[in-house]
Amino acid sequence: MLELADVLDARDRVSETSRHTPLTHSYTYSEMTGADVHLKLENFQRTGAFKIRGATNRIATLSPAECEAGVVTASAGNHAQGVALAATRAGVDATIVMPENAPIAKVKATRNYGAKVVLHGIDYAEAAERAHEIEDEKGRTYVHAFDDEAVMAGQGTIGLEILEDCPEVDTVVVPIGGGGLIAGIATAIKGTNPDVRVVGVQAAGASSLTRSLEKGEVVSIDGVDTIADGIATRSVGKQTFQVIKERVDEVVTVTDEQIAMAIVHLLERSKTVVEGAGAVSLAAVVFEEFDYDEGEVIVPALCGGNIDLNMLSTVIVRGLVETGRYLKIRTVLEDRPGALEDLLAVISGYRANIYAIQHDRTSRDIGMSDTEVEIDLETRGHDHVAELLEAMEANGYEVDVLV
Ligand SMILES: Cc1ncc(COP(=O)(O)O)c(C=O)c1O
Repeated sequence: MLELADVLDARDRVSETSRHTPLTHSYTYSEMTGADVHLKLENFQRTGAFKIRGATNRIATLSPAECEAGVVTASAGNHAQGVALAATRAGVDATIVMPENAPIAKVKATRNYGAKVVLHGIDYAEAAERAHEIEDEKGRTYVHAFDDEAVMAGQGTIGLEILEDCPEVDTVVVPIGGGGLIAGIATAIKGTNPDVRVVGVQAAGASSLTRSLEKGEVVSIDGVDTIADGIATRSVGKQTFQVIKERVDEVVTVTDEQIAMAIVHLLERSKTVVEGAGAVSLAAVVFEEFDYDEGEVIVPALCGGNIDLNMLSTVIVRGLVETGRYLKIRTVLEDRPGALEDLLAVISGYRANIYAIQHDRTSRDIGMSDTEVEIDLETRGHDHVAELLEAMEANGYEVDVLV
């Protein structure tokens, strides 16, 4: 099984390609939670995520003949970029198989880091199948995204940095997809100080680990559904599961709404861009998905910042809706001059700002002398939303809240 010595060995190799990322105290989250929260900002890592650490360490363990033959892997995301850059830095040829629908920005970034990209299949599973064929056909070494000791050891160097920069840490909180990241970090932490607690976090829509722990063996779930694409995996690995079982104290889940709110809050308050998979750790702290004491020193690892801009805009709207700062309503008015003006007078009386408005007389759901109005509004929180809806109803409008 992976041991602290493996992570310590990985440290020097990893430092050749990766940054020792910042760890900062957060007044905002400490005040909000009552704990003493420090953020491990791994989203500032080269390639935008921690994956370069594990890939660098794995490639460093190749024999000269394996280096000559090159590496291959499949990934739709951060692992692709990590392997691409680590291989290029080591002078090793890399082929990365990405699903055909992989975001163009990620395909470009992976190519720019020096890898050959093969687009194949509709999803990760089909891409991985092709990558294994290339492994067999060309004699390349497959670099697994998580279920590999050298990969886990590389990711574990994050744990060493946390202990170095925040020796007073009580609890480290780590996202879980396939489990390589937490297996490495837990090994580094428990091997150095067994009193530090390690809490793992999965997305509720991809929570295979809770079931695996209950059953005592790796369970694969049928499907995944979460905005945290970096951890949308159907199961953890066999090797990572053994380490997690032994060294992780607790595993919790967070919902997509909680993840979206954590992303928006990090943007607004900490000026920090974090992807869904990177935000689950902070979401678990903020929404108290595990117990902690007043003043407890907690370090959530924010493990990646590669969020698609379309996803980011969706998440921002979801986050605003959850916090009562965005409201979409529908109502029906009489189709007469001034009816819209009367409605708008109520809205402006409560100082809600209109983003968009749609006025439709052709809807089949309304009477011939009615008109349907949909309005997107900027609001100032749940109390403001409640006051506004109450005032509209008091003025005789029947209002449907759409989001
Ligand atoms: C940003 C981010 N966080 C966390 C994880 C989870 O890592 P692991 O699959 O090793 O559990 C991933 C995996 O791709 C990721 O991209």
